[in-house]
Amino acid sequence: MKKSFVIVGCGRLGTALARYLAGAGYRPAGFASRSLSSAKRAAAAAKANVPVSVLPWEVTSKADIVMITTPDGAIGETADKIAEYRGVEKGAVVLHCSGAHASTELAAVRDCGAAIGSIHPLQSFVAENIEENPFAGIMMGVEGEQAAVEIAWQIAEKLGAHPFEIRTEKKMLYHASAVVASNYMVTLMNLSLQLIIASGVPASKAFAILKPLVQGTLSNIEKNGVPRALTGPIARGDVETVRDHLSEISEKAPTRLELYRELGKHTIEVAEAKGDLSEETAGELKTLLSESDS
Ligand SMILES: NC(=O)c1ccc[n+]([C@@H]2O[C@H](COP(=O)([O-])OP(=O)(O)OC[C@H]3O[C@@H](n4cnc5c(N)ncnc54)[C@H](OP(=O)(O)O)[C@@H]3O)[C@@H](O)[C@H]2O)c1
Repeated sequence: MKKSFVIVGCGRLGTALARYLAGAGYRPAGFASRSLSSAKRAAAAAKANVPVSVLPWEVTSKADIVMITTPDGAIGETADKIAEYRGVEKGAVVLHCSGAHASTELAAVRDCGAAIGSIHPLQSFVAENIEENPFAGIMMGVEGEQAAVEIAWQIAEKLGAHPFEIRTEKKMLYHASAVVASNYMVTLMNLSLQLIIASGVPASKAFAILKPLVQGTLSNIEKNGVPRALTGPIARGDVETVRDHLSEISEKAPTRLELYRELGKHTIEVAEAKGDLSEETAGELKTLLSESDS
């Protein structure tokens, strides 16, 4: 028999899950959110005529799988409330989708006999109306109790994603890594765009001009690994060019100087790992990038 699911917290991720879990053969059993309109929207996304509520425990008690997709800060209290109202069946699986928080945040429902876990899609969900399956081909980190991990693993595969196991006690580092890969990549692109626009390239063309370079770099990392993908003045030990960059940024985009310096210092480490940089040149670059007035 098809496993039933309930979503609690019908925002960006919850609504996408409603739609694609239903599409993957799971049976919607209800939707709950802080506002009834969000719960109704998720039910519509799943094409399901099922109970909706602002009180999670009113809909969770009939589900095999409860997915809590509230903001991270509300996960613990949501689980506590569900447990207080005995809102899960013995043998049910309760999962949350936070990358930073561990499954242990759901401890209260374990006391009702549910297995707890988390399933974190390594993807950025920006809109609720997603016409294409946003889970197809992405990675999903899962952790928790064995029965919950098994269900989370199946869910990921049925959504078209690739599951992998993460360590409960090291989840915060795992999430920090995801933040760097996604959020800090955005910040890095922001810096690059600001500098190219300051150089006179029209803002409307800036991203299109940089995009093949970014894609080529990612492809080089994939094919050759991080150190061998590094090119440019630091990898070449071209101290003069780095000095000229610092002087020009200091004049034309001074608020960007500190970030450029810090990234440069970390880039020296990569260049050293590549093996082409002499100790002397690495030292010169370190001094230059640490000076506060260049
Ligand atoms: N978005 C992403 O890119 C992404 C990626 C990976 C993982 N996640 C994880 O997915 C979870 C949800 O993130 P999101 O981006 O989908 O957030 P979101 O768009 O803000 O949606 C959260 C939903 O939960 C509802 N809600 C808030 N407090 C609630 C409560 N106490 N009880 C019940 N419902 C409540 C909200 O209220 P209304 O009913 O008022 O609408 C909202 O619709 C988080 O754990 C996040 O870390 C998100």
